[in-house]
Amino acid sequence: MTWTKKSHQEIKEIVFSALDKNVNYSTKGVLGIPASYLDDKVFNQDDAFLDNAPYISSLIKNPNHIGCHTRGSSESFFSGTQQIERDLIEMCAVDILKGKPMEFDGYVASGGTEANIQAIWIYRNYFVREHNAQLNEITILCSADSHYSMDKAGNLLVLDVHKVPVDLDTREVAEVDVLETIKTAKQQGKKYFIVISNMMTTMFGSVDSVQSYTNALAKEEVEYKLHIDGAYGGFYYPFTEGDTSLNFRNEHITSVTLDAHKMAQAPYGTGIFLIRKGFIQYANTQEASYVEGEDCTLIGSRSGANAVAIWMILTKNGPFGW
Ligand SMILES: Cc1ncc(COP(=O)(O)O)c(C=O)c1O
Repeated sequence: MTWTKKSHQEIKEIVFSALDKNVNYSTKGVLGIPASYLDDKVFNQDDAFLDNAPYISSLIKNPNHIGCHTRGSSESFFSGTQQIERDLIEMCAVDILKGKPMEFDGYVASGGTEANIQAIWIYRNYFVREHNAQLNEITILCSADSHYSMDKAGNLLVLDVHKVPVDLDTREVAEVDVLETIKTAKQQGKKYFIVISNMMTTMFGSVDSVQSYTNALAKEEVEYKLHIDGAYGGFYYPFTEGDTSLNFRNEHITSVTLDAHKMAQAPYGTGIFLIRKGFIQYANTQEASYVEGEDCTLIGSRSGANAVAIWMILTKNGPFGW
């Protein structure tokens, strides 16, 4: 278990020591690297209260976590707080979602929308590169209750979206309806399915039966990749259900979105994207030449303080306090 409860003192020591390992803007020039210091006429770096405030101190120090830090090299300027982000990704993948240690990549995204689009982007590129798929042969398969980020992803990535109707009383997704939707998509020439299953929907809190999808996909013998949208339920459902197939013990699931800025009560900008190793590189932008280690994320520059905020919330409460 990597997730342990920590005292405020321990949290402070770890965060301040991480900030000390980052580049110090006041002693080192930052021209030429993706970093900028905050305007000190507005954001005082020396306020006395900062000594007791690791999150606000992280905001004031303004580390840029551009890129993905769970694989290969990363910007060395922010190595201290990147380690906190790596620890956080491991806690989420291993302690919360029951994956095996060191088998996951991930990063703190701007929110659930970005994390869902990131997953769909990766799988679209995977099908194109590994299966020579045409874009009109790939579709997004999700439920009628799925978040509208699926439609954004379809629009941005030039993919159709096929939605499985839900039972209007229970909001459940039935295997027979998934089968029908897959058959319709196949008739329209779809061969590759990017499947999004909900771990609590926005409007109803409903949880899709992941077996309804995997059984139907197996029966129809189609290629697919399965992502779980746990933006709403990711910090809730895994703690209420002991035995669940909605985690990384289920080999059919390749990636998960969790949003700390919902049930974990973190500040906005704290979506979490998690994926089994071997896939995030399908979203690599090699042209990101000024980013050490290149960039496999959708967003670009992002505040390292967001990773610190989530890590602090999890370690303050501990796995049992949750
Ligand atoms: C299930 C689900 N997915 C995705 C999102 C999008 O999250 P965000 O608003 O952080 O982009 C939400 C937001 O409510 C959601 O409930």
